Amino acid sequence: MNNANETAVVCRDVTKWFGQGASRVDALRGVDLEIRMGELSMLVGPSGCGKTTLLSVIAGLLDSNGGELEVLDEKPARMTKQERIQFRRRNLGFVFQQFNLLPALTAAENVAVPLLAAGFNRIDAVREATKLLAELGMENRAAALPSELSGGQQQRVALGRALIHQPRLIVCDEPTSALDAKTGHAVMELLSEVAVRPGRAVIVVTHDSRVFEFADTIAHMDDGRIQEIEPGAARARQIANFGAAAPAIQ
Ligand SMILES: Nc1ncnc2c1ncn2[C@@H]1O[C@H](COP(=O)(O)OP(=O)(O)OP(=O)(O)O)[C@@H](O)[C@H]1O
Ligand SMILES: [Mg+2]
Repeated sequence: MNNANETAVVCRDVTKWFGQGASRVDALRGVDLEIRMGELSMLVGPSGCGKTTLLSVIAGLLDSNGGELEVLDEKPARMTKQERIQFRRRNLGFVFQQFNLLPALTAAENVAVPLLAAGFNRIDAVREATKLLAELGMENRAAALPSELSGGQQQRVALGRALIHQPRLIVCDEPTSALDAKTGHAVMELLSEVAVRPGRAVIVVTHDSRVFEFADTIAHMDDGRIQEIEPGAARARQIANFGAAAPAIQ
């Protein structure tokens, strides 16, 4: 079985509006989208077109008003609120523009938070977190507070926190827009190295054309709908690499 062909998320005619009557805003006007496992999918489009709303609906942070949504073969609409919270804790990892780290906790403690929520004891959780931070190039900074870290280092901590519980779906909203070009590139490189695996999917909402090269798929959104889906440079590279390797297999 080839995990890369499995579907992580299916949206069919998903709608979401805010407010009522004259002040109603239709943020999602019928979104159709499939996100594949083993890929980094980017969601791009102008400000206000509905990217964060769509990501929030997929991640179960917002309820849609209509349409069908399947996430990791489950239908969140059929779950109770409590089941949805459990599902999210177990299966999702989040990375935001503002790193949202807890200021009184060290880097390792911040990374450990999802494990603590899953019932790990503190010592084991911090040990696992310290190991992951080392993989993310932060072996010497595990005991630092967020205020003692650079923006790129804080985003790597946030990446660690999103990955530590090995979620199957990782959603990132503008993960590089608070970073300079070089640091943003490095964070995307880590994200695609560490997070893009078979049986796992990564969705990145971005304005940042400098990181488009990391996409396997780019979904263009406008006015509450997906307008076009195109393969990204990362998929082209995968195909090129496979092509280059092919003559050796005879
Ligand atoms: N909680 C809310 N209440 C009312 N309107 C909202 C709310 N959240 C989003 N909207 C509206 O829904 C539309 C889509 O917003 P959304 O945040 O999804 O856009 P976006 O594509 O993420 O934009 P940006 O690139 O600026 O982050 C916008 O018109 C926005 O004003
Ligand atoms: Mg947004």
